Amino acid sequence: MRHAVMLLFIVGVFVGCKKEDSPVTPASVQTTTTEATLYMLGKSSAGFTFYKNSPDTLSKGGNSGHPDAFLRTRYNSTSAKYLDANGKVKAGTVFPDSSLIVKELFTNNLLTTYVFLFKKKGDTNADANGWVWAETSPSGTATYPASNKGAGCTGCHGTGIDYTRMNDAHP
Ligand code: HEC
Repeated sequence: MRHAVMLLFIVGVFVGCKKEDSPVTPASVQTTTTEATLYMLGKSSAGFTFYKNSPDTLSKGGNSGHPDAFLRTRYNSTSAKYLDANGKVKAGTVFPDSSLIVKELFTNNLLTTYVFLFKKKGDTNADANGWVWAETSPSGTATYPASNKGAGCTGCHGTGIDYTRMNDAHP
């Protein structure tokens, strides 16, 4: 009996140490950010800062892959720390985890689409640089699912600051 207790104790210590030393992210910490998550976090502009500090819509950039004629882009409090006094992204920025950037697309003054960029390194749906890409309708229906991991988006965005294009398309 005493041996059995001792053995359990030793195994317990061993398992305990192993867990703490392990560099692998435990499954319980791995996140899966979906378009539904981003819709909930990003549909309201409360707490966001608009590009160039203005909620006015802009005509889309000439090389924009996004269909609507007008857009505006806003940054949550984490990503807004990387905007300068004029509300433009600071040169050399690498956005930290939990940065959320939302672009709203408009046709004839009507919101048609939310476009999301969310930084979460190691997320199931993140690309190699830690960005999760998604689009939804104004009611939250996926029009580009996060599970696509930015396929078709990243190529065009690679020229921007940490994959963001507002500065070059709307200087
Ligand atoms: C053909 C090039 C192109 C493709 C493809 C493209 N984008 Fe963009 N994207 C742009 C440009 C240019 C801008 C700057 C704003 C504008 O004029 O539309 C932009 C802006 C954005 C923004 C605002 C933040 C910023 O500064 O970049 C988000 C978010 C975004 N795109 C997400 C996406 C997603 C998601 C996809 C794929 C479904 C995608 N983009 C595909 C060119 C592209």
